[in-house]
Amino acid sequence: MSSSEPKTAAPVKTTGLHTGEIAPGVAKVDPIIVVDNVSRSFGGLKAVDVEHLEIPRNAITALIGPNGAGKTTLFNLLTGFDKPDTGSWTFDGKKLNGIPAFKVSRMGQVRTFQLTKALGLLTVLENMKLGAKGQRGESMWAGLLPFLWRKQETAIEEKAMELLTRFKLDAKSEDFAASLSGGQRKLLEMARALMSDPTLVMLDEPMAGVNPALTQSLLDHILDLKGYGMTVLFVEHDMHMVRHIADWVVVMAEGKVVAEGPPEDVMKNPAVIDAYLGSHQDVDLGVVTGRIEGEIPAGAEDLLAEVEAIDAVAVAAAERKEHEDEAK
Ligand SMILES: Nc1ncnc2c1ncn2[C@@H]1O[C@H](COP(=O)(O)OP(=O)(O)O)[C@@H](O)[C@H]1O
Ligand SMILES: [Mg+2]
Repeated sequence: MSSSEPKTAAPVKTTGLHTGEIAPGVAKVDPIIVVDNVSRSFGGLKAVDVEHLEIPRNAITALIGPNGAGKTTLFNLLTGFDKPDTGSWTFDGKKLNGIPAFKVSRMGQVRTFQLTKALGLLTVLENMKLGAKGQRGESMWAGLLPFLWRKQETAIEEKAMELLTRFKLDAKSEDFAASLSGGQRKLLEMARALMSDPTLVMLDEPMAGVNPALTQSLLDHILDLKGYGMTVLFVEHDMHMVRHIADWVVVMAEGKVVAEGPPEDVMKNPAVIDAYLGSHQDVDLGVVTGRIEGEIPAGAEDLLAEVEAIDAVAVAAAERKEHEDEAK
């Protein structure tokens, strides 16, 4: 997997992120996320069991580990898409336990999914508008005052077009998202995440399924986020990409953080090598989504849940659109 090997000059790494000796759970100079004793079990399996973890602010942190290590589950917990059995965590100094996903994203912490959630039957621009904060429908008062929401609508559209231009998707704004390539959908999902002006962007396997022609562009966009003052936490299997853009790497295996540190150091760590050689295997997403015929592997329940969640989002959006069309 060397598709994302850098073609441009090495990006400037942010250093001096931790304090004290490097070990799993090491303190950060300026943490944006602090996790304490967060655990989540499915049946008898402890999918996540993180004692202590701090994510550094305004840096790019990669979360790596073999399939089934608990990376997506940790993402789900931190973003309010799932509830832990134990533990607590803060985002930007605010306790997030029990806060539902939509509120978490309004607080400035957004995420993308391992399977993209771009809604095929909405246009690219409509997808972008779904990412805006404070949608008019959410406030009864604004809903009663059409001139207020029309003004807001124009501002949202302008912002959406600016972001689409930045991501080179502006020419496709009126196309259905379904007509985009896998890589363009990933770009769209990232652009949509930025509609809410987040402080922390969490990307679950942003490179998975992306055509090599688009990987460099995705890399650059992720690097750019740091320049905009944002913090990035991303899950990735491609070690070239991790080495190239991450300022800090956290390694999970069997639910626990087994190592962390700057990329060059972490990748020499025997625990990391063990974690990868131990059980690295890839689940074919095509089989999970029913696109390709085949047996769904054991342990793909999370992917199924993601597929169901996507369906739910699509249905809700379609219904909302129907109501809007009726109201016109
Ligand atoms: N909703 C779920 N129900 C049952 N088991 C799950 C669920 N979500 C995840 N798991 C299990 O938890 C473990 C961690 O999964 P996951 O967080 O998806 O790992 P990763 O993203 O690191 O590949 C896996 O063994 C997986 O099968
Ligand atoms: Mg995952």
